[in-house]
Amino acid sequence: MNDRFGRNINYARISLTDKCNLRCVYCMPSDAEFKQKGINELLSTNDYKFIIKGLVELGINKIRFTGGEPLLHPDIVELIRYTYEECGIDNIGITTNAIGLCDIADELYKNGLKSVNISVDSLKEYRYKSVTRGGDLKEVIKAINKCLSVGLKVKINCVVIKDFNEDEVLDFIMMTSIYPIDVRFIELMPLGEGNKLYQYGYFNIFEMIENIDEMYKVNNEENSAAQYYKYKGAKGRVGVITPMSCSFCSTCNRIRVTSNGSIKLCLHSKEELDIKPYLNKPLIFREIMKENILEKPQKHHLNENQQSDTNRNMYQIGG
Ligand code: 5AD
Ligand code: SF4
Repeated sequence: MNDRFGRNINYARISLTDKCNLRCVYCMPSDAEFKQKGINELLSTNDYKFIIKGLVELGINKIRFTGGEPLLHPDIVELIRYTYEECGIDNIGITTNAIGLCDIADELYKNGLKSVNISVDSLKEYRYKSVTRGGDLKEVIKAINKCLSVGLKVKINCVVIKDFNEDEVLDFIMMTSIYPIDVRFIELMPLGEGNKLYQYGYFNIFEMIENIDEMYKVNNEENSAAQYYKYKGAKGRVGVITPMSCSFCSTCNRIRVTSNGSIKLCLHSKEELDIKPYLNKPLIFREIMKENILEKPQKHHLNENQQSDTNRNMYQIGG
């Protein structure tokens, strides 16, 4: 359905949990504390199914499961199967850190998953371990290979941080020469934990890519947050996601469902709608959602404020 600025809202990002098995420095404090003990005590798997069905009836045709880390959810396979088989959604993705992905990639694919976005901020083992506070890069590379071999589309997300990994940009670009994958560089955003790093860590990746002679622009997918390029002769593409230097608000087609049952229409807005009272009440849910989507903010104000308006961290929203 359309919002009041004529944007066709057809993409939902659904967070299954705010828990994560890593602690990336720009995302989660090392000592993150959680009120809830379990993976998700606020929304049951049936609640998720109700929400997915309801959103599909309103015109959502692309669904991404996020977290925290969505693979921690015990029913991820069932939710993907439900979305694919019972709701008829073909465009299903997950955003994951890839821990444990190797073992279930095949099962996820067979149940309807089409693509995986994997977060990798360094190709050097010691750096990867430090930015994720403990992750093992070998496991991620194994998962990438596995995903490709079972037929999943793979995108790598790399947050570029000044004086940390900007010297690896070319190595990441070269991955697109070797593998048929897309690598997407993401500008660090001043949001949650990212606020602490932003002042010193912001790096203008757009400028850097534009200045590499062998890179040329390729056509964008409709409504994509990324601007895509290709390195001469490469198999995959290189994307830049630049919420700061070049925002994509005017074509933003997404809404978010947080793991505590709220709808967020904009990542950077404080506004949230608690939909828990409307669960399992299809008619009210539908009307409330329609009204709510009309209220989607026109744009974020990151540049004016140098800070996101949301009080949440990224792991509490769902990438
Ligand atoms: N700035 C930019 N990207 C971020 N991510 C998490 N926090 C931030 C931030 N402050 C990224 C993760 C993941 C994606 C969903 O969002 O690395 O790839
Ligand atoms: Fe976990 Fe992703 Fe946040 Fe890293 S960025 S701590 S992998 S949710």
